[in-house]
Amino acid sequence: MKLIVTGGAGFIGSNLVLHLHENYPDLQILNIDKLTYASDTGYLKSIKNSKRYHFSKIDLVDRKAVRDVVQRWQPDGVFHLAAESHVDNSIKGPEPFVLSNVVGTFNILEECRQLWHEQEGKTKSGNHLPKDSVKRFLHVSTDEVYGTLGDDGLFSEETPYAPNSPYSASKAGSDFLVRSYYHTYGMNVVITNCSNNYGPHQHDEKLIPTVIRHALSSEPIPVYGKGDNVRDWLFVTDHCEALTKVFFDGKDGEQYNIGGDNEWKNLDLVRQICDILNEEVGEGPDGDYKNLISFVTDRPGHDYRYAIDASKIKKKLKWKPSKDFKEMLRTTIQWYIERYKVKA
Ligand SMILES: NC(=O)c1ccc[n+]([C@@H]2O[C@H](COP(=O)([O-])OP(=O)(O)OC[C@H]3O[C@@H](n4cnc5c(N)ncnc54)[C@H](O)[C@@H]3O)[C@@H](O)[C@H]2O)c1
Repeated sequence: MKLIVTGGAGFIGSNLVLHLHENYPDLQILNIDKLTYASDTGYLKSIKNSKRYHFSKIDLVDRKAVRDVVQRWQPDGVFHLAAESHVDNSIKGPEPFVLSNVVGTFNILEECRQLWHEQEGKTKSGNHLPKDSVKRFLHVSTDEVYGTLGDDGLFSEETPYAPNSPYSASKAGSDFLVRSYYHTYGMNVVITNCSNNYGPHQHDEKLIPTVIRHALSSEPIPVYGKGDNVRDWLFVTDHCEALTKVFFDGKDGEQYNIGGDNEWKNLDLVRQICDILNEEVGEGPDGDYKNLISFVTDRPGHDYRYAIDASKIKKKLKWKPSKDFKEMLRTTIQWYIERYKVKA
C-alpha cells in the first residue's frame, strides 16, 4: 500500500512516519512537506535510506506541485497533517494559516479525489466514488475547533464548532471542507480532533520546550495570565496509534475525538517540569527552577479549558492512551535536555 503523509517533518508527522515505518512493513511512505521553520528532517535520519521511505519537498499551496506528486505517487491513502500550527503566530499573522491550512488542504483533497475518481470510475449517480472504494483520506485536526469550556464538561464529536483563534478557525475551515467531500462526493474521509500533544521533537516555540529552554538558560519562564488555563495532554505516540486505528479501522465520514484524560492547569504543568529539571540537572537558580516562573500578559482570545471526551474511539476502535504521564514527561524532558546541551 502506498501512503502520503503530509507534514511528516513536523512534530507529530515525524513521530507518525517513524511509527508507520516500524509497525507496518508493507507500507511505502511518501512524506511531503514544505520544510517550514517548524520542520526538522533530522528526527527521521534513522529511516533516511530505507526503501520504504521517500521524501518530497512540496508546498501544498502550490496546486501544480501537489497534482504532480499525487499523479506520480498514486497514493492509496493520505494522512494529512501539514499545517501552520502555532496559535501565537496565527495572531501575529493569520495569512499563512489560511493558505496552508485551508487552501493547502483543499489542494491535496481535491487532487486525491480526482486521482481516485480516475482510478475507480464514477458511479452512475455522477460524483460519488464507488461504495467499495478503499482509498482513504485521514484529516488530522485539533480540539481547538470546539472553542472553550468552563470548569465542567467535555468536548464530544457533537459539540458545535466555535473556533476563537485564526489557527483554530483555519483548522475548522479545513475540517468542514473534508467533511463536505464525504457528503458531496462520497469520498472516503475520516477526521480526528486531538488534544495537546507532548513528546520529543516538538518545535522550540511550544509550551513544554519553551519552559525547559528558558529554565536551562536561567531566563524567566513565561506563563500566560495567571497560568489557570487547562489543557488535556497526550503523549505523541499515543496520538500516532490513535491515527493508525482511525485510518485502518475507522468508519468513513466519521469524526473521532482523541484525548489523554489528563488535564493540567498550565501553571501546575510548568511547576512539574521545574521539579523534574531540579532532579535531572541539579537545582536551578536560588535552589529551584520554579523561581524563574514569570507571569506575562495573557494571549488575546485565550481559550480557558480544553478537555476531550474520547469515549467514541475507545468504544468503537478499542484505543486508549497507554502512556503514563509522569514517566513520559520525564522522558520528554530528558530528550530536550540532550537537545539543548548539543545546541549550546
Ligand atoms: N501539536 C499538537 O498538540 C496538535 C494537537 C492536535 C492536532 N494537531 C494537528 O496536527 C498536525 C501536525 O501538528 P504538529 O504539531 O506536528 O505541527 P508542526 O508545526 O510541528 O509541523 C507541521 C509540518 O507541516 C509542514 N507544513 C506547513 N505548511 C505546509 C505547506 N503549506 N505545505 C507542506 N507542508 C507544510 C511544516 O513544514 C511542518 O513540518 C497539524 O495539522 C495540527 O493542526 C496538533
